[in-house]
Amino acid sequence: MQAIVGRVGDYQVRGCEGGDVPAVIRINAETLPEHYSDYFYYEILAEFPEAFLVAEVGGAIVGYVMARMEYGFSHLKKLGLSRKGHIVSIAVSEQHRGKGIGSFLMRKAQEAMAARGATESYLEVRVSNQEAINLYLKLGYKTSGRLEAYYKDGEAALVMATPVGH
Ligand SMILES: CC(C)(COP(=O)(O)OP(=O)(O)OC[C@H]1O[C@@H](n2cnc3c(N)ncnc32)[C@H](O)[C@@H]1OP(=O)(O)O)[C@@H](O)C(=O)NCCC(=O)NCCS
Repeated sequence: MQAIVGRVGDYQVRGCEGGDVPAVIRINAETLPEHYSDYFYYEILAEFPEAFLVAEVGGAIVGYVMARMEYGFSHLKKLGLSRKGHIVSIAVSEQHRGKGIGSFLMRKAQEAMAARGATESYLEVRVSNQEAINLYLKLGYKTSGRLEAYYKDGEAALVMATPVGH
């Protein structure tokens, strides 16, 4: 059993286990147009389990966040390389939104990145995804770039980043 990372009201947030991945895949399929191979989820879980978290209530998984560690050009400094955490995906089932679960999952994933030596966290988000952009702004993320036609349907992505671990 994975350690409990924390609670948000009635929701328990804990580390994802292999057996949770099918539920995570289902939430992803229901909430986001970007889907990954099953293998991809297990790979992320094996690489960085401390930042692959699920929110659960009454035995049902209703949200997740997953991230990976990377080393490359900083999104915050003009020049230079940095150790950075990349939020690969986050989603909360529609009927459980607006209760602070997304914010909590993000904060805990950022703590896990910092514990692995990341100095920044970054992500891509659809320019039209105002709910998610609001969440990231609230957490201190700033837009560091824009990727035209980043998504398969041609929509652009904002790249947003924030310092972590300071
Ligand atoms: C983005 C998402 C994960 C937020 O999860 P959540 O649990 O509802 O988030 P929270 O309750 O912690 O809300 C955090 C902030 O997000 C913003 N937000 C959430 N719902 C919003 C809405 N309907 N409209 C506008 N802003 C909203 C607000 O800034 C909110 O802060 P506030 O409550 O202080 O106003 C959720 O909306 C979701 O799963 N969306 C579909 C998947 C997705 O788009 N993922 C991101 C891909 S990059």
